[in-house]
Formats: sequence, C-alpha cells, structure tokens
Amino acid sequence: MTDTAAKTPVLEIRNLHARIEEREILKGVNLVIPQGEVHAIMGRNGSGKSTLSYVLAGKEDYEITEGEILLNGESILEMEPAERAAAGIFLAFQYPIEIPGVATMTFLKAAINAQRKARGEGELSTPDFMRAVKEAGAQLNVDSAMLKRPLNVGFSGGEKKRAEIMQMALLKPSLAVLDETDSGLDIDALQVVSKGVNALRDGKRSMLVITHYQRLLNHIVPDVVHVFSDGRIVESGDKDLALQLEAKGYADYDGQAA
Ligand SMILES: Nc1ncnc2c1ncn2[C@@H]1O[C@H](COP(=O)(O)OP(=O)(O)O)[C@@H](O)[C@H]1O
Ligand SMILES: [Mg+2]
Repeated sequence: MTDTAAKTPVLEIRNLHARIEEREILKGVNLVIPQGEVHAIMGRNGSGKSTLSYVLAGKEDYEITEGEILLNGESILEMEPAERAAAGIFLAFQYPIEIPGVATMTFLKAAINAQRKARGEGELSTPDFMRAVKEAGAQLNVDSAMLKRPLNVGFSGGEKKRAEIMQMALLKPSLAVLDETDSGLDIDALQVVSKGVNALRDGKRSMLVITHYQRLLNHIVPDVVHVFSDGRIVESGDKDLALQLEAKGYADYDGQAA
C-alpha cells in the first residue's frame, strides 16, 4: 500500500464546543487522529475528558454549540449512538452495565449482528461467530466458562475489562475510545486493557486512550500524547510528554485555557 499525503484521518475534531445543563464543558477541542495511530489524552479530573468520550459516542444530554466531528471524513453529529457504532466507533465504558439473564456470549453475538445489520450486512453464521470468539478469547484469556455467565454480573474489575476488550476485538472498530480515567484500574485490569489494545493495534485501527494514569502508557505506548485542560487540548507531544506530566503534574497548564 502506498501512503498518500492527503489520506483522510479516521477522526477529526474541529473547534468542538459542548455544554450540559447550560454549562460549557468542552471549549474548542481540536484533534486529528490519522489511521493506525494511538493517541492518549491526559488531564486533571474534571477537565472534560469523559465528556469528550460521551460526545463522541453520541450520548444524549450534551448540546454541541459549535464545531464538527468527522469520522473518516463524514460528520457524525447528526448520527444516533447506534449509527456511530455501525460507522466504526467503539466506546469502552468506564462502568460497564450488568445484564442479568443474558449470557456474555449471547450479548456479543447480538452486538455484532446489530452492527452488521445497520451496515446492511447479513448475520454472522454461528460457526463464523464461534471461530471469531475462539480467536479473540485465546488472545485475551477469556475462557468459555466466563462467556456463559451473564454479562458483567458478579464480574471482577478485570473480568469486566476482559468482556469489554473482547467486545472491541469482535466488533473491530475503526476508532476505539477507551476512557479509563476514574476507574482506578488494578494491575489485572491494566494488563487486560493494554494487552487487548496492543493486540488490536494493526496499523489501521486508531485508538484514543483517555487516562490520568501515566502507568497505563508504559504498557500502551501512544504515538501522540495530548494534555487536556479546561475543556480543550492545550499541548501535544510524543510519549515523553506523559512522563513529564507524571513528574510535574498539570500546574503548568492551569489557567492557560481560561
Ligand atoms: N451532568 C452534568 N451536569 C453538570 N455538569 C457536569 C455533568 N457531568 C459532568 N459535569 C461537569 O463537567 C466537568 C467535566 O467532567 P468530566 O468530563 O467527567 O471530566 P474528566 O473526565 O476530565 O474528569 C466537571 O466539572 C463535571 O462536574
Ligand atoms: Mg473522566
């Protein structure tokens, strides 16, 4: 494949402003993620990082007052969350929901087929689905016993992360957004997330990893690190920026985005 300079980025956010309950939270976010790159966003609690991920996923409650979000060159602002998912955005939730009575396996199959349907594709056959599950499961250490249990019910933090990353592996999104900010990842969950993300890094899929744990970025080495402050990106750099933030904190950025 020959690279052309004019390749459309997977994600382009232009001057994005968003508010919730009359309060402006995002104040002019600009971000471009080219195909295949892993970008990290770091920033203080309350700076608006989770808001950005919710707005990307299309969660209601937020009013976009200015700006644009382009996925593979097309605006997604008018799309419902399910349409965005079908278009290739995957959002890993910080607090995954429990679905009593629905086996994880059944949920995964329904999730895949809902997306295929939205794209006008036929349902995945059971053998094809089983093959995909086996492949992803082996990569992520998800055993069949876990897949038979109801989704997330009584799962440990690490198991929830496994189920979530498994879902990502099966859905093969073109853009995965992982918001890990407030969840206090334990070592088990940290390894699951980083292993899963690294396994899905294939030079085509793009990812946005939101975290305030520099530690996570030792395992998932990002191509670009962005610093988020008061509703926008105030600095971008390479992976060393994360180390500087760990050492110096965010004080240098306070007030900068006022
Ligand atoms: N439903 C809401 N109503 C009003 N303010 C909110 C709501 N949700 C979040 N906020 C505020 O938005 C700001 C950004 O929150 P958030 O995006 O969760 O930040 P982060 O993920 O960086 O910690 C915070 O000041 C928070 O209090
Ligand atoms: Mg958050």
